[in-house]
Amino acid sequence: MTTPNEPTKLQRRPRRLRRSETIRSLVRETRLTPDRLVLPQFIVEGDGRVEPIDAMPGRARMSMDRTIAECSQAMDLGVRAFALFPALDSSLKTPDGREGLNPDNLLCRAVHAIKETCPGACVITDVALDPYSSMGHDGIVSDRGVILNDETVDVLAKMAVVHARAGADMVAPSDMMDGRVGAIRGALDDADLTDTAILSYTAKYASAFYGPFREALDSAPVDAPHVPHDKKTYQMDPANAREAIIEAMLDEGEGADIMMVKPGLPYLDIIVRLRERTSLPIAAYHVSGEYAMIKAAAANGWLDERACMTESLTALARAGADIIFTYAALDFARWFKDE
Ligand code: PBG
Repeated sequence: MTTPNEPTKLQRRPRRLRRSETIRSLVRETRLTPDRLVLPQFIVEGDGRVEPIDAMPGRARMSMDRTIAECSQAMDLGVRAFALFPALDSSLKTPDGREGLNPDNLLCRAVHAIKETCPGACVITDVALDPYSSMGHDGIVSDRGVILNDETVDVLAKMAVVHARAGADMVAPSDMMDGRVGAIRGALDDADLTDTAILSYTAKYASAFYGPFREALDSAPVDAPHVPHDKKTYQMDPANAREAIIEAMLDEGEGADIMMVKPGLPYLDIIVRLRERTSLPIAAYHVSGEYAMIKAAAANGWLDERACMTESLTALARAGADIIFTYAALDFARWFKDE
């Protein structure tokens, strides 16, 4: 029996290393810094335009001048990578998404302008048809409502070359068609664009957490006969984990430089599994719905925004993500600075 004067002789007391912030900081295993973050940007035509996105408080669709100003500000805060998404006028959307191949389209002009103003930036472009498709799908939709794989891959390979010529440092196929990484690598190499990297959306799930993003781009599948109302025939089933390994092995073999898991927090196990199987860098996308949940709860006074956002992003890094796409990149960089 122990008396108050005789403390229990525990062999290990993990709390010893939690006693002060100084000690906790010495033994901290994961450190998140702004240079690991990628800020997604939604771009619209025009000048001086800032259109707040309702479901993504704090983020807006912005014209090029405003986007560039924000990128410069981000660079100063240590966030130096940007993922660009064009929000096109519906008059430019067609079933074949041909505006996506126009070398003078909104996205290409934005890539060029950002690289000009911020030469040190890493500009990442999304390779998929959805911003340009009048159907709201990432691929070409057949008359019978099938998303055509190989026909889509041909277009995506051309689109990647157009983005790389505009100055993109990395192209990021987010479409989940089979064989697209190999086709894109081949097309880039044939065009002498051997230095353009491929950041593949390797394990992209058919998730309901993309809602606010589709609102931002007005890119949800349209409600029309013979147009599938979801993306389940190409994006992955949220119930599957082993299948992510198959996708990863294929992407690595086809020449992906970086592999992404998307969404983020609900798929931490997928990040861990890929981390165990590949030496390639891994990216995670903390998607629009994940961002919106924290913002909405914080706006109601139910959650502490800074603490929850930081915890979420740190968890993604702890699971094994080297790079994190997040709409909170600027917020995080500011918190990081005044820590
Ligand atoms: C489209 C694309 C999507 C996102 C990134 N690229 C949406 C989708 O697949 O429908 C989602 C990002 C987010 O929700 O933050 N190719």
